[in-house]
Amino acid sequence: MFKDINGIRIAYTDEGEGTPLLFVHGFPLNRATWSKQVAFFKANYRVVAPDLRGLGESASGPGPVSMSRFAEDLHALMQRLSTGPVVLVGHSMGGYVALAFATAYPNALRGLVLVGTKAGKDAPEVAAARRATAEKVRTDGVSTVVDAMAPKMLSASNEDPAMAASVHGFMASSKPDGVMGALWGMADRPDASARLGQIRVPTLVITSADDTVIPPSESAVLAGSIPGAQLRVIPQAGHLVAFERADAFNEALKDWLDSGSAVSGPRGAMSVSHQPG
Ligand code: MLT
Repeated sequence: MFKDINGIRIAYTDEGEGTPLLFVHGFPLNRATWSKQVAFFKANYRVVAPDLRGLGESASGPGPVSMSRFAEDLHALMQRLSTGPVVLVGHSMGGYVALAFATAYPNALRGLVLVGTKAGKDAPEVAAARRATAEKVRTDGVSTVVDAMAPKMLSASNEDPAMAASVHGFMASSKPDGVMGALWGMADRPDASARLGQIRVPTLVITSADDTVIPPSESAVLAGSIPGAQLRVIPQAGHLVAFERADAFNEALKDWLDSGSAVSGPRGAMSVSHQPG
């Protein structure tokens, strides 16, 4: 399904009924990475999973896309879909977006699930490397990013060629301008660390033991900085844990949801109005 959001045609999945779970993918990925969560949770929840602008089937605009801009798109999509406050599940870059969302729209959240992500900004050399990569994408296409990143998404011990091919396929379908926009946006993103103590919704941090892209130590810092946050470590999984070890991931998320606070606690104060179309 598609909606025009902030001038961009955004693709999304919206299935099931109940408390809304909003799944936000990482880079350079798309909502297909959440397919095993959609299948599992739609029996008991409303599951919404968009493609961020410029990625997956969503259209792109020119120039950098800040994490705040992605968050604005999510909020506008929620309004268009009349979801009300959501449990926001963000993976990696989707976690950077989730933290921007938590600052901009605290009342639009019931809970936060931060997966394989961190609050810090890029070190100067990392930001410079991202900008150089963006230029390479402009001249050579997305394969430069895909070839570098796809092998890092799964655990080094994963020997499932079909799964590796799926991950490669998710990335290879990304469009150059969307990839460049996200790279520039990540390079410019602010440090969210100082705001973590202000998060007031129930929070679950999930990491994976074999994540070499954003190591578990980052998640431990994140969980330790958010009041009341819980930390779960999924064994034998790499960066794309929700896809690689979907059963363990879904169980961890289900346990936390079943424990209640994000689902049965007071809803945020935001009033989400329905806008047809
Ligand atoms: C992601 O998976 O979203 C990226 O690896 C995040 C990043 O490059 O910082």
